[in-house]
Amino acid sequence: MINLDINGQKVETDAEPDTPLLWVLRDHLSMTGTKYGCGKALCGACTVHVDGNPTRSCVLPLAAVASSKITTIEAVGESKIGKAVQDAWIAEDVPQCGYCQSGQIMSASALLASNSKPTDADIDAAMAGNVCRCATYVRIRSAIKRASG
Ligand code: FES
Repeated sequence: MINLDINGQKVETDAEPDTPLLWVLRDHLSMTGTKYGCGKALCGACTVHVDGNPTRSCVLPLAAVASSKITTIEAVGESKIGKAVQDAWIAEDVPQCGYCQSGQIMSASALLASNSKPTDADIDAAMAGNVCRCATYVRIRSAIKRASG
């Protein structure tokens, strides 16, 4: 058994230690807000926070996060910044198909937690690893600016 701290809850799993966190979240814990896109740390759809840092859960072995605090899209709105980001996403009507958006929101909220007034260049750098096939990038940038107040 491996113990995890997910969204402030203590969770036990019998998944193998090398199982990527993404599959533990989705298949073992039925937390399906975190998405599978590429499985190779290339698209950002699977982004979660590990000790506050945006992290690709598709390539993150379970054993590596046993002593970390994990936050997923299901709970990001419980923080002031996460709530502001989600509200801004709605206000700016960001999603098109929506598939990548939980990962986008996780990266955006991590950015604002470390930089409350990001420039366009800061936003582009922080969000570069989150791909959106509907190309909602302009609205993503607007929403991050809105959330930054
Ligand atoms: Fe993890 Fe694409 S599914 S980065």
